[in-house]
Amino acid sequence: MTNIDFEKIVDTSNEWITSRTGIKERHIANADMTTADMAVQAAMRAMEMARCEKEEIDLVICGTVTPDYRLPSNACLIQERLGLTNAVAFDVVAACTGFIKGLVIANSHIETGLHKKALIIGVEKLSAVTNYKDRTTCVLFGDGAGAVVVEPSTNGCGMISSFMKSDGRLWQLLWMKVGGVKNPYTTDFDYNGSDKIYMNGADVFKVAVKEMANAVEVVLEKAGVASSDIALFVPHQANLRIIDALAKRLKIEPERVFKNIERYGNTSAASVPIALDEANREGKIKPGDYVVVVAFGGGLIWGAALIKW
Ligand code: COA
Repeated sequence: MTNIDFEKIVDTSNEWITSRTGIKERHIANADMTTADMAVQAAMRAMEMARCEKEEIDLVICGTVTPDYRLPSNACLIQERLGLTNAVAFDVVAACTGFIKGLVIANSHIETGLHKKALIIGVEKLSAVTNYKDRTTCVLFGDGAGAVVVEPSTNGCGMISSFMKSDGRLWQLLWMKVGGVKNPYTTDFDYNGSDKIYMNGADVFKVAVKEMANAVEVVLEKAGVASSDIALFVPHQANLRIIDALAKRLKIEPERVFKNIERYGNTSAASVPIALDEANREGKIKPGDYVVVVAFGGGLIWGAALIKW
C-alpha cells in the first residue's frame, strides 16, 4: 500500500508522509492471511537457512501483539504447523520490542543450558488493529514477519550483552482501549476507533530517541565495545527521523545504519528480524562483526542487544 493510496482514504499527502516518516509503502496482508500464516513462512525460511531439522528446535518464542487468538499463544500455533514436537512454545507481548525480548529470553535459556536450539519470531498483522480513519497513525504501520534460529556457540560469537527496560507510567501513550477484559467487545457499541491503535506520536518520539540511545550506550559499556566498533546498527524501523536522530546521538554514520522503513513502514515486532535478515542476505554482516539491535514500543518498553555475528 503506497502513500498515494493513503491520499485517497485520509487527508494526507505523499510529501507529508515521506518527509515526516521516511515511509513510501508498506505491506498489507490479505484478509484471510493470519499472523500465524506469516510467522510460519518466516520460520521455515530461517530454519532452512540454519539447516535445522524440526526435531532440533526445543524453544519457540513469538513476539507479537496481534496474535490469531487470545488463547492459545501464536507460538503454539506455529509449533503445531511446523511439527516442532520437541519444543516449548510461548508468546512475548512487548510490542515493537517483542522480538528483541524473545532473543534475550532465548539467550538466557541457552546460556543456562535449559534449551539448545531456539526459534524466535517477530510477527504482526497491524493492519487488523489500525484505524484507517486516523491519519496520524494509519500511514505508519505495516504487516510482516521475521525469524531467527539461535543455538550455543563455541567461538565467542552470539549475544554479548543486552539491556531491557520499561516505564509502565507511560502506557496510555500507545494502546488499544477495547478488546481486553477491562473493555470487552460488545455488539451494540460504535467503537469509533477505540478498538484500534491509539498513539500520541510526538510524546512517543521523544522518549524513543532518548531511551533507545541510552539502551545502546548501556550494552556497549557492559561489553567494553566502542560505538566505532559496531559494523552494523539495526534499529527498529518506526520513523526515519527517529533512526537518524538516534544514529547522530550515538555518532554512527549513515553507512553503518540499516534502514528499510521506506518499503515496510513500522511492522512492530517484525521490524528488527526483517531488517536483520535483509542485511544478512545483502552481505552487510560478516562473521565476527559487531551488530547492535535496538527497539522501542508500547508499554512503553525498550531494549537493545550487542551481537557478535
Ligand atoms: N498527513 C498529514 N498531516 C498529518 C498526518 C498525516 N498523515 N499526521 C499528522 N498530521 C498533522 C497533524 O495533524 C498536525 O497538524 P496540526 O499542526 O494542524 O495539528 C501536524 O501534522 C503535525 O503533527 P505532529 O504529530 O506534531 O507530527 P510529527 O512531526 O510529530 O509526526 C509522527 C507525527 C507520528 C510521524 C511522529 O510523531 C512519530 O513518528 N512518532 C513516533 C511514532 C512511533 O515511532 N511509534 C511507534 C513506536 S514503536
